[in-house]
Parts: sequence; structure tokens; C-alpha cells
Amino acid sequence: MGFYIGKIKIDGSVVLAPMAGVTNLAYRQMCKKYHAALVYSEMISDKGIFYHDKKTLALAKIDKNEHPIAIQIFGGDLDTLLYAAKFVDQNTEADIIDINMGCSVPKILKSNAGSAYLLDPERIYKTIKTIVENVKKPVTVKIRIGWDHQHINALEVAKKIKEAGASALAIHGRTKSDLYRGHVNYQIIKEIKENLKDFPIIVNGDITTPQKAKEILEYTQCDAVMIGRASYGNPYIFKQIDHYLKTGELLPNLTLKEKIQILKDYSEELIALKGEYTAIRELRQQAGWFLKDFKQSAQIRKKVSLITSYDELLQILNALEQ
Ligand SMILES: Cc1cc2nc3c(=O)[nH]c(=O)nc-3n(C[C@H](O)[C@H](O)[C@H](O)COP(=O)(O)O)c2cc1C
Repeated sequence: MGFYIGKIKIDGSVVLAPMAGVTNLAYRQMCKKYHAALVYSEMISDKGIFYHDKKTLALAKIDKNEHPIAIQIFGGDLDTLLYAAKFVDQNTEADIIDINMGCSVPKILKSNAGSAYLLDPERIYKTIKTIVENVKKPVTVKIRIGWDHQHINALEVAKKIKEAGASALAIHGRTKSDLYRGHVNYQIIKEIKENLKDFPIIVNGDITTPQKAKEILEYTQCDAVMIGRASYGNPYIFKQIDHYLKTGELLPNLTLKEKIQILKDYSEELIALKGEYTAIRELRQQAGWFLKDFKQSAQIRKKVSLITSYDELLQILNALEQ
């Protein structure tokens, strides 16, 4: 198992998806601990990099323990996107530069970025080719299967991306219009892999269990599965899938006690990264992801959604452990 993205060895076939507001350095490290074979940063604005915005640049901070890592950038203007790609190439420790051509958020689409690229495969070709020619690190792309159900063009787009010199492609099997709803079209991803056998393809969308990961990998013949929301409160899913793919054995889910310990460790890392004020605001939601499926969990999540300090969170967690 495992594959190469350019010269970068990816030692496994379960990777963490880029998720804005989620896959910060602390989150990535937590997933890495449980064998995510590759992690992606949150999407980072090309304009933010261009203007050297402090908050934007902070998103590109990488720890030595999280390699291999892809930094994902987005933008609708080639000039600034290229600037950002060169910046990531020359000024960060990222192993891979990933270009977001799949985001469905209206503000991003308005600036001709994200899924807006899917409307114009020639623009995709030109953009990726220009970036590839100007950086040393491998360039990858993340797309959806098309703009909407009348315009499913992922095969054409994937061919252009490969031809332009990209080193891998991640595909979320939905259209821009689907947002996060409805059926994930794995069939088209299978067709793309059949057509581009030697091009690393990562399949993404609604992969939530080891069994499903195995089924989708076998069906599509892709090189890896990408896990997004199923990692919420359960970074152990990477290890569960990895282990199942290697041995056919299902590891038991984490106990509540184990989840609480992971949550405490994550909270401390997040506070170290962002300071307590910001971290606590994020933890009001994220801590709830770890605290599910037990008696009174709804009540506990409600309490957690109101915390104002780490001490308060600790009190709730310690009481829960008694
Ligand atoms: C909160 C959130 C933020 C996301 N941010 C990004 C992003 O920054 N870049 C990107 O390419 N995709 C982003 N996505 C899409 C995910 O990478 C992934 O394609 C999608 O969630 C489907 O995978 P899943 O079903 O495993 O969650 C985001 C998704 C969510 C839920």
C-alpha cells in the first residue's frame, strides 16, 4: 500500500481532507498520530498570501511531525494564485501544493475560484500548467465532478489536469450544486481512474467506515480515500481504516475515556496554537464532536457549547470521567 505524489512517498491510503475552520495544525497533528497518510491544510487565500496578511500566513505554519503535508491554496486570478504557489514553494515546509478547484462557497465562486474553474477546463489547464512550470514541489488539485448535474465533466477536467503536469488529483464525487447533499458519484471516479491508470487519484465523499473505504477503493481502484467529516471527534478513523485495509480486522471504537483524553490533548494543542480566547470559541463546537452517543451526551454538549475557558471544559470532562 502507498503511492507517490511526485517524489513524495505517501505511506498508506487514507488521507485527511482539507477543511476550512477545521484542519488547523493541531487537528492535523491529531489525525497524523492515528496514521493519516497525508494531511491537507485549510484552504489558504492567494490574496492573503500576496498581501502577507498575518492571519493567512499563520495558516501555512507546519510542524515537523506532520509530513507529508499538502498546503491548499485558492484564488481566481492567475497572477496572485501563481504568487501564492511560489510562496508556498519557497517559504514553507509543505511537501505538496494543492490547488482548490472544488470549493462551492458562494464568496469563493464569485471570485472565480474553487468550483468556478470547472466551468472552463482550458482555464484549469492553463492555470495548473503555469503553476507546475514555476514551482519545484509537486502540484495537486482537488475538484468536484462538475458544476451541476447538467455539466458533469470531471473526466475531461481530470485529463487536462494530468496533461498540465499535476502530480495527483483528489475528487469529491459531488457537483458544485450538490453542496454536501445527495448521492456521491463514485462511478465517474472509477471511470476517471480507468482512463488515467498511472495518475494518482484520491476518492472523496461520505466515506465513513473502514468497510466503506475498502469497498470504494476496490470499486474505483483509486490510490487513496480522503476522509473529511468522519474524522470529526474521531481521528482514530484513520487507523481503523488503515488497519482494516491491511488486515481485514475491525478495531473497536474508542471508549469515551479515550476520546476525552484525545480531546484534552487536542484542546491544549489548539490553545497553544491560537491562544485560549480563540481556541475556546472553536472548541465550543469541536469538543461536542467527541462527546456523542452516550447517556446525557446532548446535555453535556450543550454545556460544552457555553464554555468560556479551558478550565470550564476540563471540569466538565473530569466530571464525565468519574
Ligand atoms: C467544514 C468544511 C470545510 C471544508 N473546507 C474545504 C477546503 O478548505 N478545501 C477543500 O478543498 N474542501 C473543503 N471541504 C470539503 C472537504 O474537503 C470534502 O471534500 C467534503 O467534506 C466531502 O468529504 P467527507 O464526506 O469525507 O466530509 C470542506 C468541508 C467541510 C465540511
